[in-house]
Amino acid sequence: MEKIFNWGIMATGKIAHTFAKAVNYVPDAKLYACASRNSQKAKQFADEFGAEKFYGSYEELAADPEIDVIYVASPMSCHYENVKLCFEHGKNVLCEKSITLNVSRLEELISIAKAKDLFFMEAMWTKCLPVFLKAKQWFDDGKIGKIKAIRADFSNAVEFDPQDRLFRPELGGGALLDLSVYPISFITAFLGFEPQEINSSVNIAGLGVDMDEAVIMKYKDAYASFVSGFDIDNENRAVIVGTDGRIAFDPWFFCTDTVRLYDKNNRFVEESKTPHLCNGYEFEIMEVQNCLAAGLKESRLNPLSDTLNNMKIMDSLRRSWNFSYEGE
Ligand SMILES: NC(=O)c1ccc[n+]([C@@H]2O[C@H](COP(=O)([O-])OP(=O)(O)OC[C@H]3O[C@@H](n4cnc5c(N)ncnc54)[C@H](OP(=O)(O)O)[C@@H]3O)[C@@H](O)[C@H]2O)c1
Repeated sequence: MEKIFNWGIMATGKIAHTFAKAVNYVPDAKLYACASRNSQKAKQFADEFGAEKFYGSYEELAADPEIDVIYVASPMSCHYENVKLCFEHGKNVLCEKSITLNVSRLEELISIAKAKDLFFMEAMWTKCLPVFLKAKQWFDDGKIGKIKAIRADFSNAVEFDPQDRLFRPELGGGALLDLSVYPISFITAFLGFEPQEINSSVNIAGLGVDMDEAVIMKYKDAYASFVSGFDIDNENRAVIVGTDGRIAFDPWFFCTDTVRLYDKNNRFVEESKTPHLCNGYEFEIMEVQNCLAAGLKESRLNPLSDTLNNMKIMDSLRRSWNFSYEGE
């Protein structure tokens, strides 16, 4: 008989709702339990998505022996404590992006996961989407030759709200950890983790978070760039330009279901369209379950070394901005 994986969802905010729908979609996944800091909220969430159990504290969820894996969906500044709690109770973890505030906290979590032989992955769902894997395959097959430039923007105009985690420095708010983590993960997936030079401009505003930033990463033979921010509405396309062609992702590149290949004369060659089966998050859920079934402790699609190296780039950007989070 197929193993059914019991999922626990820690925190019941916006993305937890989206994720819960996807858990309910995946056949061998079960939304077994959820937890909120408020038991009323936890009950509501459990009722809405049919979770068998609900808890009014994260500790109780982490301690439930029936859970196979916990999805951590709290704000960035809480991830470190929340993931640690899961590890203390021997639980495998899929943690939302950005996985921690900085490299040192991530290194600590990785070493705990390794010492306890637990699965750990950042929920960078883009890297599990079929269109992203198709683009990687085109590149690996030499369809676009050597990469010369990548452009991948991610901006999303959001009305300022002092209560919203996005604008609260104490919750790890700001464009870097919320938005830029996507273009950075995308760029490094194709060009690697060692740009020779990174130049950027940032706008620190509001309550003291990075509202927007523009970044250029110079590699040996290529440039990569992006703009991200909460005060800009953009198309959010991505394009990978090579010596022999280019790969173009449709708007909202990190979650689109459509990617196209062009030759070096700008002629259309091929389109790959893979509609989401539910809302796109099902693919990362399947990846986690495939790893657990195979006894793997990290994802092959999004290994911890990638997450750590991306975090190193984000730390270096913040150093250049002289910007730190509370408690660093
Ligand atoms: N993968 C994606 O597409 C995607 C999209 C959006 C966000 N995210 C990521 O998901 C995480 C959560 O984002 P979100 O948009 O869902 O945030 P949100 O709506 O603000 O929800 C965050 C939840 O975290 C819990 N929480 C724990 N400690 C908290 C604190 N001190 N202050 C506020 N909330 C606290 C709360 O749940 P309880 O009250 O139930 O405890 C809250 O509802 C972030 O890491 C974000 O980057 C990912």
